[in-house]
Amino acid sequence: MTIMTPDGFTRHWRQPPNFPLQVPFDYRFLPGIEILDYLRDDEEVRFTILGDDDWQVRMERTAAFRTAPVEEVITWPFRLVHFNLARFYGDILHGFQEQVMIPWRTYLSAQGFTWQRLAPILFISTEGAASTYHNDNSHGLVWQLEGTKTFHSFLDPDKHLSAEGAVIGDTTGEEPPEHDAADRQSVTMQPGDQLWSHALTPHWVTTKSVLAMSVTLSHGGLSHQGRFTERELALRAYWDKNPDEAWTHDLRNVRY
Ligand SMILES: [Fe+2]
Repeated sequence: MTIMTPDGFTRHWRQPPNFPLQVPFDYRFLPGIEILDYLRDDEEVRFTILGDDDWQVRMERTAAFRTAPVEEVITWPFRLVHFNLARFYGDILHGFQEQVMIPWRTYLSAQGFTWQRLAPILFISTEGAASTYHNDNSHGLVWQLEGTKTFHSFLDPDKHLSAEGAVIGDTTGEEPPEHDAADRQSVTMQPGDQLWSHALTPHWVTTKSVLAMSVTLSHGGLSHQGRFTERELALRAYWDKNPDEAWTHDLRNVRY
């Protein structure tokens, strides 16, 4: 099912499972290898070298990640994230604010949505790389740009992780727990594909191509006509009891 109509999105955003959608953003990204070459030297980039080689190889690759020929770097399994992209709207992401962020905010506002925080996050990974098993405090509009990734989540997240468990994030690990394959929703995403990932639901992502790049528009505190989702309410209840922690949402401590 592809949600294209405003009504469709408004009806489906509250409840898992994740669903594909098709927002026709009019924006062309530079090739992933060029974006990687630019971002890898940025002070706010985060990356993790993966793979089965011994730790010494991973240490050497970590040290050389910013300076080795980029054609060589993409042969190493790694995952990379950057979540302060506004800094690049003037150069490598020229036009992103006008062609993506403003139209999407306008669309959401017109449908009666409000939010606490809405920002894009960029992910680049290579063949064999996998994200951690985790959940995010934010809803994600996942937009595959280059290469292929499979986005795994559960059809019924309540069966695998309570809202309260998701709020404290105590399940995060390198691998998903043992589960019945029939409980899983695995969506293989090709360039141009989009998926709505519900806040506070566990998921993991595997890379299926030499290089894969995606952007997630991350929505914190999303509310429709004043109503949050149930899992968001659990987060807010937790903050009511732990007010010192509520602000840490702004750190965007994204697990990837
Ligand atoms: Fe995530």
